[in-house]
Amino acid sequence: MTTTLYRATYLHTPSSPFIDAAALRAEDDGALLVEGGVIRAVGGYADLRAAHPDVPVSDLRGGLLLPGFIDTHVHFPQVRVIGGLGLPLLDWLEQCALPEEARMADAAYARGVARDFVGGLVQAGTTTALVFGSHFAGAVDELFTEATRVGLRCVSGLVVSDRLLRGELHTTPQRAYDEGRALIGRWHGVGRSLYAVTPRFSLSASEGVLDACGALMQEFGDVRFTSHINENTREIEVVRGLFPEARDYLGTYERAGLVGRRSVLAHNVWPTDRELGAMAEHRCTAAHCPCSNSALGSGFFPLRRHLDAGVHVSLGSDVGGGTGFSLLKEGLQAHFMQNLMGEGGVDLSPAHLLYLATLAGAQALGLEGQTGSFEVGKQFDAVYLSPAPGTPLDAVFRHASSAERALAAAFATGTPADVTRVWIGGAEVHTRSTRQTA
Ligand code: GUN
Ligand code: ZN
Repeated sequence: MTTTLYRATYLHTPSSPFIDAAALRAEDDGALLVEGGVIRAVGGYADLRAAHPDVPVSDLRGGLLLPGFIDTHVHFPQVRVIGGLGLPLLDWLEQCALPEEARMADAAYARGVARDFVGGLVQAGTTTALVFGSHFAGAVDELFTEATRVGLRCVSGLVVSDRLLRGELHTTPQRAYDEGRALIGRWHGVGRSLYAVTPRFSLSASEGVLDACGALMQEFGDVRFTSHINENTREIEVVRGLFPEARDYLGTYERAGLVGRRSVLAHNVWPTDRELGAMAEHRCTAAHCPCSNSALGSGFFPLRRHLDAGVHVSLGSDVGGGTGFSLLKEGLQAHFMQNLMGEGGVDLSPAHLLYLATLAGAQALGLEGQTGSFEVGKQFDAVYLSPAPGTPLDAVFRHASSAERALAAAFATGTPADVTRVWIGGAEVHTRSTRQTA
């Protein structure tokens, strides 16, 4: 079993800074003792070195070591359509996303997309992702296969819909159940893969399809659930017309027994107070996708109302409605948007952004015992940020007065180009190739 002492400036949030003002832990000259992929000790380098004088040291000084990022809303079949700017949700789906999603019927095409997608995630420092899969079971197999090859913690499933998309993306309740059941058998709990029951959104899913999803959730108690909710005002109007009996958008999922502790609902830009109260009671999560909310003009996420109601919130890139895989960028955009909301916004510190990009996602997925922070007993899922010499981020890192200041700069200017090394379960899954300098 390999044992390594990683020496670095590290930061992590073992608790929520929304609850605990001292949640951010930072060590300027720190160390993590990792044995067989598991964190065995954490602390100051001098102390750990004295206690483990014979363990090989990996010297990561000069950059920042953070827990691997956790993206709780990202679409596998949309990596090649990032950048369709300027359209509201329903037009963007029709013109940009769905034509590409139809191409996933071809497993060979899906295989290439899976490589682009998983590569994009790990290069951005994402080590765990809740992934909206494909409408085609063969493409979902390609995604899990590639995630397994790379080592990504991947929670995903078959996307199901039976109306208002394109004919080739529609299924039936029976097929949704049968194909979901078979995929759960192939992938749920296999290696690092977990299954998520995934109706696209109530707009495109009849009660029959939602009930088929509910049947899977009943049968397999620990699968996850994910979908979209309250993203766009026009979408909400259509859903209201399609479900005249439902109290609201959340009610369409509640009726089918889909909302619980392991449910993640993306966006929730326009919730009612009733929905927020019910989400808190169900202990489900709202995945906040600030770049997508900006790119599709969906609106400002009411973070304050979520927090006041007691709703758990995590972060998602929502590629390809979102603009890329970096959760550093999502953190920055979340910060910007909350600032722009004035009195109603939440002042997000670097600690809040780090928490949202890491532990909050692990908690959303019920994986907080394994990942999301550098605590003893957790897996060594980590991202090392080390900017290229001469870049502005490098200048801040070299002159920062504190690790927290360097973290703020990482959120402000960091990109996947600054992600030098990424580990999942102790295995290095990404190493940035050396850049040519002029
Ligand atoms: N609602 C239903 N499908 C989608 C999608 O692909 N992206 C976003 N942002 N919202 C959706
Ligand atoms: Zn989405």
